[in-house]
Amino acid sequence: MSTAISLAGKTALITGGGRGIGKAIAHRYAEAGANVVIASRKAEVLETTAHELASLPGRVEPIACHVGRVDQLEALLARTNQVFGPVDILINNSGTNVGQGPSLQLSDDALLKTFEVNLLAAHRLCRLTVPSMIERGGGSVINVASIAGLRPQFESLAYSTSKAALIMATRLWAVEWGRHQVRVNAICPGLVETDFSQFFWKNEAFMARLEANQPIARVGKPDEISWIALYLGSNESQWTTGQCFVIDGGATAN
Ligand SMILES: NC(=O)c1ccc[n+]([C@@H]2O[C@H](COP(=O)([O-])OP(=O)(O)OC[C@H]3O[C@@H](n4cnc5c(N)ncnc54)[C@H](OP(=O)(O)O)[C@@H]3O)[C@@H](O)[C@H]2O)c1
Repeated sequence: MSTAISLAGKTALITGGGRGIGKAIAHRYAEAGANVVIASRKAEVLETTAHELASLPGRVEPIACHVGRVDQLEALLARTNQVFGPVDILINNSGTNVGQGPSLQLSDDALLKTFEVNLLAAHRLCRLTVPSMIERGGGSVINVASIAGLRPQFESLAYSTSKAALIMATRLWAVEWGRHQVRVNAICPGLVETDFSQFFWKNEAFMARLEANQPIARVGKPDEISWIALYLGSNESQWTTGQCFVIDGGATAN
């Protein structure tokens, strides 16, 4: 009996797959044999990543897309279908945090933009991929949420509420689509060292608090989030749905 997880024959779509956590997942998936589309706004970043991963068993296709634009999401799916066929694993990983600051100063525009990228894009991508998963007998949706969706992140009204909504959407979709063998799970990382979170890990006072309170007292690495995504995309997790997997060095346990 092999203990290696294989994604051979599967097609995965990873938003925000050019860097950070999404790139680590793309690497893990291509290593496990999946064909992977990586999608985000910056074509040159995606192309560099696709080039770096080119020697792995799965193919990696970069497709530029702003996930807040319906026409670009439709074009993304059309191109994905053309290159690899229908999506088996959808990873809603692109995220934004505009509007960090005191709640009373948060503009309507910043709140709406955050929800457009962190929640609405996931809903739209499910609408574009899940019907075909249902027709073909199943699939896996993985939403990259955050521990900020489980407890308030200071002065992050837009971000925390959008991730809380994504966690609730995960459970709701899991309940709706379970009978079609479409599984939906969320990953909630703690502080991981990426461009996105540098506001926190470059802040000495914040890091001193983290080191005092978090059982494994350091920031995480993108690769440390990728393993749970590998499991959730694979057939090995076929009885796992509607769950939220917290990978945070124990931050929320304390
Ligand atoms: N790092 C952490 O501490 C942490 C903790 C908890 C949760 N998360 C979540 O993890 C996910 C990945 O973030 P990361 O930490 O890996 O940061 P990152 O390296 O900065 O990646 C963010 C990704 O999102 C993409 N993106 C942002 N806006 C987009 C848009 N409008 N359309 C398409 N793609 C867009 C970016 O690509 P382009 O700029 O090319 O568009 C980039 O690939 C996010 O959902 C974030 O909320 C991160």
